Amino acid sequence: MNIEIILNELNITSFLSYENIIGGRDSSVWKVKVSDEDSYALRLIPKHRHQQFKEEKMIIQLAEENGIPVPKVHFVKKIEDYSLMLMDWVAGKTIFNELYEYPENAREIGIQFGKVQAAIHMISLPKTGESGSEEWLSPKTSEENEILDLISTHGSKNENVLLHLDYHPLNVLTDGEKITAVIDWNNASRGDYRFDLARTLSILRIEATKPGTPFENSPSVIEEFEKGWLEGYGEIRKINIEPLSLYNAWAGIRMKRDLSENLLETDRLRIQQWISYWLEKKK
Ligand SMILES: Nc1ncnc2c1ncn2[C@@H]1O[C@H](COP(=O)(O)OP(=O)(O)O)[C@@H](O)[C@H]1O
Ligand SMILES: [Mg+2]
Repeated sequence: MNIEIILNELNITSFLSYENIIGGRDSSVWKVKVSDEDSYALRLIPKHRHQQFKEEKMIIQLAEENGIPVPKVHFVKKIEDYSLMLMDWVAGKTIFNELYEYPENAREIGIQFGKVQAAIHMISLPKTGESGSEEWLSPKTSEENEILDLISTHGSKNENVLLHLDYHPLNVLTDGEKITAVIDWNNASRGDYRFDLARTLSILRIEATKPGTPFENSPSVIEEFEKGWLEGYGEIRKINIEPLSLYNAWAGIRMKRDLSENLLETDRLRIQQWISYWLEKKK
């Protein structure tokens, strides 16, 4: 892809530099520096997914109106073979990097992380009749159908609250004091808050300490972070979190589909063990 042609079409002609950001899994992300202080984040996906960016922009604006720190979105637009989203680049680093640099602060970082997720779950997202906001939760396999049936017979409250569904340390940015932005609202949906908590927990437990990753040999950092996360969450919502077992099983099943294209056998086994553990626990 020729990023200069795209910048030119966007009338961003006086940029200082640009770089491709490694780490984007779902989209291609570029940091475009336009002055010493200001940069944009330019995200690109194939143009047949344009609707996804349009919905994401609406969700980000709803979050912003409700006081959630998010980057300002300037526009989404189709150019050549891409749908692109231009947003402000938020200074700071990912929670992941913060944890890596200051593992001794894991608990405090977790508290901040949990408080913001709780605030997201206090935003109601009324049903509009439009498709889209339930897309990521919609079952696509018989295994997903079964677990969602179990969840609905065991007392899902069918809450209509905003769920991020990819709320993890790479998608939350911090300046070291407070959270400066929640990004990557790609999967955002409406539903019961436990889907979102289970999704975060599954990522922390299955992915964050996986062999070959930075926290492989320091699982206690992630454990402390996890304690802080739930503590911060409870401080804001003042509820007793209801049982998560079935939701955790769902999160594993959903993760399997999400990663299916590039899943190693060892990873598939890890996810499978997680699913079996939570299904067993429920019995
Ligand atoms: N607005 C932004 N401000 C600062 N960093 C960003 C911004 N958008 C993306 N990033 C960086 O790019 C990475 C990938 O972006 P993300 O939107 O999460 O894409 P993906 O869907 O591919 O995960 C993030 O983890 C973050 O480091
Ligand atoms: Mg991301």
